[in-house]
Amino acid sequence: MLDGKRILLIIGGGVAAYKSLDLARRLMERGASVRGVLTPAGQQFITPMSVASLTGDECYTELFSLKDEAEMGHIRLSREADLVVIAPATADLMAKMANGLANDLASTILLATDKQVLIAPAMNAEMWAHKATQRNIETLKRDGILMVGPGDGMLACGEVGPGRLAEVPDMVAAIEDYFSGGIRPLTGKHIVVTAGPTHEPIDPVRYIANRSSGKQGFEIAGALAELGAKVSLVAGPVSLNTPAGVSRIDVETAVEMESAVQNALPADAAICVAAVADWRMKTGSNGEKLKKSKDGIPALDLTENPDILKGLSGMKSGRPALVVGFAAETEKVIEHATAKRERKGCDMIVANDVSAATGIMGGDSNQVHIISDKGVESWPTMGKDDVAKALAKTIAAVLTD
Ligand code: CTP
Repeated sequence: MLDGKRILLIIGGGVAAYKSLDLARRLMERGASVRGVLTPAGQQFITPMSVASLTGDECYTELFSLKDEAEMGHIRLSREADLVVIAPATADLMAKMANGLANDLASTILLATDKQVLIAPAMNAEMWAHKATQRNIETLKRDGILMVGPGDGMLACGEVGPGRLAEVPDMVAAIEDYFSGGIRPLTGKHIVVTAGPTHEPIDPVRYIANRSSGKQGFEIAGALAELGAKVSLVAGPVSLNTPAGVSRIDVETAVEMESAVQNALPADAAICVAAVADWRMKTGSNGEKLKKSKDGIPALDLTENPDILKGLSGMKSGRPALVVGFAAETEKVIEHATAKRERKGCDMIVANDVSAATGIMGGDSNQVHIISDKGVESWPTMGKDDVAKALAKTIAAVLTD
């Protein structure tokens, strides 16, 4: 699969650097040749000797090496490859790349290369979640850099969260995908996804809410990003990690969600997965908590929330080419969802049965029906992650049709 492919492997400074040695080996087993570049930080974890021994080639470490410049030169090094892979890609390397810095061998190669770059980030979860890192990821994605991982789980520092270097087989698969022409179908597309519940305050301590966990929406945002889309995820109050490569905007109420969605436009598609509360309090409580009183139970004077899906579907100009809604039904699922598609004016409805017995609300699996102008397609019960992947592919097919 990788016969004759030349891969320049830049190894950054992270505990996971040792996995790059295995990566080099697996790539060579598949017929690729690998040339290593080890950053000064990377040399704190593995040695140039181990890289050179494994790759059977020189391991490059210095920008200002008289010998290396005379024999190879950093520009040639950056061009004599079919793909440049950075694993582990540290926060520092990503920041340099996003900002075009070139003050050492790795960053100079990255600025000088005319080849595709694929990064496998690895860092502490807080470093990953930091706004600066997320900003850099957005920039890199916009620049067309491919990314694999990071995974979620136990990190070397003992913390748990996103930031684990992708597993070697996943890195190999991403590299093979690239060479098999697997240019990701949603590259260059911007998609807005809403997810989670909204909370509508009654007074400073109480609110109207619902049981949405946000899982399905987050999975969809992640799956779209994996297919190359730039994803803006407008999330209600949930405790979920942001999927890799996704820009997240946290909101609390339906009104905030609507304005965050409008601010995120223009977009090629909008996927409304959020369980938006239908109503909010007509007037606020002036910051005071409602008290029990002898006059009886207070009436909640409610007003309707903006319908974000309907608003997007009915936009006169700048409407996303594809607007997808979700229908959470407890009976006559297809019939009600078909009527909902008409009522809301969206292109596609993903319908599911959320009656308590199904365990879908808050659970990990889902069984959906896709309703569009092409009719109804019923999918088998799948994990929410697999529903997300299948839906992302369907969305890619529509957008690239
Ligand atoms: N939705 C939205 N804004 C709202 C309400 C719903 O964007 N204020 C979107 C949801 O994200 C979802 C779809 O509309 O995609 C679900 O609509 P739902 O709330 O089930 O529709 P209703 O018209 O409220 O229908 P029902 O009679 O079932 O409550």
